[in-house]
Amino acid sequence: MESKEDVRFKERLSRHHDELRWLYMELYQNDDMFAELCSQMYEYYKKRRESLKIRDAYREKETDWFQKKDMLGVMLYIDNFAGTIKGVTEKLPYLKECNVNCIHLMPFLDTPKGRSDGGYAVSDFRKVRADLGTMDDLAELADRCHQNGINLCMDFVMNHTSEDHEWARRARQGDGEYMSRYFFYQDRRIPERYEQTVPQVFPTTAPGNFTYLQEMDHYVMTTFYPYQWDLNYRNPRVFNEMMYNFLYLANQGMDIIRIDAVPYIWKELGTQCRNLKQVHTIVRMMRMISEIVCPSVLLLGEVVMEPEKVVPYFGTVEKPECHMLYNVTTMATTWNSVATKDVRLLKQQMDIVNSLPKQYTFLNYLRCHDDIGWGLDYPTLRKWGMNEPQHKKYLNDYFTGKVEESVSRGELYNDDPVTQDARFCGTIASMCGVECAGFQGKKLEDSGDEEMKAAVRLDIMLHAYMLTQSGIPMLYSGDEIGQTNDYSYKQDPEKAEDSRYIHRGQFHWELAENRHDVLSVEGAIFQALDRLEQIRRQENVFDQKADVYTYDVHEDAILGIFREYQGEYLIGLFNFSDQPKTAWMQEEGSFRSLMTDEKLELKDIVVPGHDFLWCKKTD
Ligand code: GLC
Repeated sequence: MESKEDVRFKERLSRHHDELRWLYMELYQNDDMFAELCSQMYEYYKKRRESLKIRDAYREKETDWFQKKDMLGVMLYIDNFAGTIKGVTEKLPYLKECNVNCIHLMPFLDTPKGRSDGGYAVSDFRKVRADLGTMDDLAELADRCHQNGINLCMDFVMNHTSEDHEWARRARQGDGEYMSRYFFYQDRRIPERYEQTVPQVFPTTAPGNFTYLQEMDHYVMTTFYPYQWDLNYRNPRVFNEMMYNFLYLANQGMDIIRIDAVPYIWKELGTQCRNLKQVHTIVRMMRMISEIVCPSVLLLGEVVMEPEKVVPYFGTVEKPECHMLYNVTTMATTWNSVATKDVRLLKQQMDIVNSLPKQYTFLNYLRCHDDIGWGLDYPTLRKWGMNEPQHKKYLNDYFTGKVEESVSRGELYNDDPVTQDARFCGTIASMCGVECAGFQGKKLEDSGDEEMKAAVRLDIMLHAYMLTQSGIPMLYSGDEIGQTNDYSYKQDPEKAEDSRYIHRGQFHWELAENRHDVLSVEGAIFQALDRLEQIRRQENVFDQKADVYTYDVHEDAILGIFREYQGEYLIGLFNFSDQPKTAWMQEEGSFRSLMTDEKLELKDIVVPGHDFLWCKKTD
């Protein structure tokens, strides 16, 4: 007799079976391996905890559960934040105080010390790094999060493994079965042909896309660091085994799985080896596999590419791929507006995003654990008389504090001597001037430090603007108390070469103590974010289904955003200049500031330097 369990699984499988089989055969033409995949899916389904199956059933009905206006994420490193996974469990009350209901745990799986790329070189997909805890700790954290209404997110690093992964070790011994899971070449002929068309990810810290292994006298493909060996997804064994790893991790209680560096997973000679159509076939298959086995799990694609390359990763309405994607161009363009005090490019970028279907959920962020690359709309900038290399240089000079009026502090990343291209690293507070204005823990006395107040104002304004966008806002742990750059990585030989560690510092619990004191830098930022987040939760205009437009105020320094939902209206005004500017507008009716409750008339209104207004229509 068939159990209820069998029936549910079979129903889901039959819903997707034909399409899944079709795509699988298109890539692999291998019936046996497809049959194995299906039977393993059932095994992982059976192993899923009952509580997760209940979550699945609930979310299958409420498919838009993650598109609610109360969603707020934070990304954090377990060791920096709380030492261990158990430590994170203990610190959940703090995260709840931050209004967070989604935690992205930065990579925590086993990785070789000193050759880890911040955890993105995984040596065992089923083992937690010993100093952080165990898989059981993770499953327990997931349960505790779920009891507290918090979702858990982790990375699935699928493009490569560490050179210490068991497959890599066996390949190194010359075992053909395992060599075929990577890209090995006896001489430089094919690698050289690839190098002609494939750009470099880390041109300075890890030049080239191949690594020579002396003991094997072979080259292996390594798009990222030399110790990260690219997996060969032409081999169905690689696809199947990686899907089993994916399901294993999902079964620990994950709600969101971030698929790392996904555009890179398919390689083809003569191409850039990015965003090839087979990548979309694989992501579509992953979506179906998770909908069959663990439908409460969402896919977050890490696609750090130009907008026209990003959007296809949502798939189509009938054949969806990722549930969520990073709003990466908007993030970079935001900082462009900070440096230039000109919102025209940002407005144009927001218009593109706002015109997309509302089902497309973006993850909005001001920065993440990686560098900020200046992937801007250069054709438009050129029309306005700016050229790409000079503009990038200006931005890097600005944010490293080399431009005279700049109060930003930070460092360049992968400053490529050939292309003269460089990216930028720094925390939000440091980029906004908190570091330059003094030290953390400083008091904002009433008549006191104007420079510090200005820095804090810019920091809060940028968060307010992020929270005005539709999608899921994602904080970076430490930013809620305005943590500045951490230069200690330079003393650690394993990190010194990689300036991304400047914004991956320890969380300062002693500074977080100040969070209730609004006269401290920490408290001023923490309390303002708290207020913004509470308002965002309460007010219907922040609903994901709201109509959102940019709003022209005839002043290039002020970004206007208009939101409308079920007869309610909000106008957000964000001044990217450090000087007071006028929003030239004539809106009929009365408005109220959501932050201060003051009545407002939106007629040629002056917005103080780096300040913002959330104005809600009251009649
Ligand atoms: C992603 C990660 C980045 C890492 C790279 C290689 O882009 O965000 O930190 O270096 O993948 O795995």
